[in-house]
Amino acid sequence: MSEPTDTAQSPAEASAQPAVSPITQTLRNTVLPPGLRGQSKDVSVGPSAQSSIKPRAFAYSLPDRPPSPPIPNGWYCIVGSEELVATQIHSVVAVGKELVVYRGESGEAVVMDAHCPHLGAHLGGGWVTGDSINCPYHGWRYNTDGVCVEIPYSDARIPAKACVPTYPVCEQDGFVFFWYHAGQQPPKYQIPRVSEVEDPEWSDAVPWQFELVAALQEMGENNVDYAHFKFVHGRDGIPSGTSTFITDGPFSTVIEQLPDGTEFDRQTWGPGIALLRIPNLMTVYTTTTPIDQQHCRLHWHFYFKGALVEMAEELIDGVTGDFGLQADAPIWRDKVFLEKPLLIKADGNIAEFRRWYSQFYETS
Ligand code: FES
Ligand SMILES: [Fe+2]
Repeated sequence: MSEPTDTAQSPAEASAQPAVSPITQTLRNTVLPPGLRGQSKDVSVGPSAQSSIKPRAFAYSLPDRPPSPPIPNGWYCIVGSEELVATQIHSVVAVGKELVVYRGESGEAVVMDAHCPHLGAHLGGGWVTGDSINCPYHGWRYNTDGVCVEIPYSDARIPAKACVPTYPVCEQDGFVFFWYHAGQQPPKYQIPRVSEVEDPEWSDAVPWQFELVAALQEMGENNVDYAHFKFVHGRDGIPSGTSTFITDGPFSTVIEQLPDGTEFDRQTWGPGIALLRIPNLMTVYTTTTPIDQQHCRLHWHFYFKGALVEMAEELIDGVTGDFGLQADAPIWRDKVFLEKPLLIKADGNIAEFRRWYSQFYETS
């Protein structure tokens, strides 16, 4: 099979591009991370951004189609901190489960399974008393550990099994995270802090949310799949020798060098959190939560250096629009996950990434 050449035009390159500002043009002409090369027609900024990629109803049962990987263990965002008001309950489907997250009167965020062990009602319709949650059906009250502490119409002893499974919570830097482990093990790592969140030289967080059809591992793997940048994202040529993949326990980093010598890096903290830093331009704090094995929910916070916040829409669209995330989305939606892909040397760090990622599938 012949090697692709730099003169081949990808579908992304073939698309008509609207006029853009000089800074975006500069970005396009340099080697950048996936997404920072284009501008899409539909700009979606803010928590109400709607997906144009709807989950596809797959009506056939094809036994030979390879299954998606299981849900990996890790810290996942369940809600943005600002979205969770005291005494409010949110119902969320994540990690293949129905969950509720609420904030008690003290400010503590609590994540637990959604269904009451009494008769199975959904706690999302209940109410918060102090730091505990009441079931909407018969009022049983559960504390922050998920233990039933009151049955309002009975003085009898509370059954020992009147407990709802809860999840460890970490709230920091604008997100409420919960820990998921297939074997119910406690957290195996801590989430690093992000200095831009409190730094006055950086803008406030600009939130962006999205849901799409993709197995979580596919999305992470995409960042070390250097060959696709040309064909999917319209980047000039295929970078080789300019990217480094470094692992450190549950953390990994991809470092890329720009032609002018500056470096940017994308740090990944477990399977659900990553930080993309482009020096003096923007930092993208990305959280990706598996809804189930085939769907993911993204809560991202963009931080801009100084006055660059005025270009927020354009820069966000460069990452998430037709040349960024939207270009990957149909590939992720339709591809299958091959446990033994046919990798060649020029495929970058995919094999190394998979070796690193396998730690998140431990069940004990
Ligand atoms: S189902 Fe929850 S209190 Fe009865
Ligand atoms: Fe991509």
